Amino acid sequence: MAVLSICVLPDPVLRQRAKKVTTTDSSIQRLIDDMIDTMRAVSGVGLAAPQVGVPLRVAVIEIPGEEVVTLINPEIIKRQGERLVEEACLSVPGYQGEVKRSIWVKVKAQDRREKNIRLKGEELLAQALEHEIDHLNGILYIDHVESPDKLWKLLPEASQKGL
Ligand code: NI
Repeated sequence: MAVLSICVLPDPVLRQRAKKVTTTDSSIQRLIDDMIDTMRAVSGVGLAAPQVGVPLRVAVIEIPGEEVVTLINPEIIKRQGERLVEEACLSVPGYQGEVKRSIWVKVKAQDRREKNIRLKGEELLAQALEHEIDHLNGILYIDHVESPDKLWKLLPEASQKGL
């Protein structure tokens, strides 16, 4: 297991549409383990494979106090409601912005054993699911910021929950 380096803007891997995973072989298992290590090393809440330079549809999410979730080929199949949230991204260091996110989402995906799963999330989990699945489509939260004054620089000492 290893802590990987995180790609930041303007790395083009962040703007690619990631490819579907067809088999969860040992290289994918290692990628997942390394992504979990990397997310924890930076106290992140979620991480998508393109953020570590791998354009594949894999994401991990760990809401504080809850079990880590691994998502392979995830898709949002239902979303409900809308709320304004403050958001930051490990690949856009030093910034935070205000975006609209769903209150509740339902996702289908495979887990790391290729089992089909459905996952419902609200609040921070819904936000993380939308944020990480966006990453797999080359979309960053800054694309959802409605105006430049809704994106601001963080003070160097400010902490942020990166996604
Ligand atoms: Ni992010």
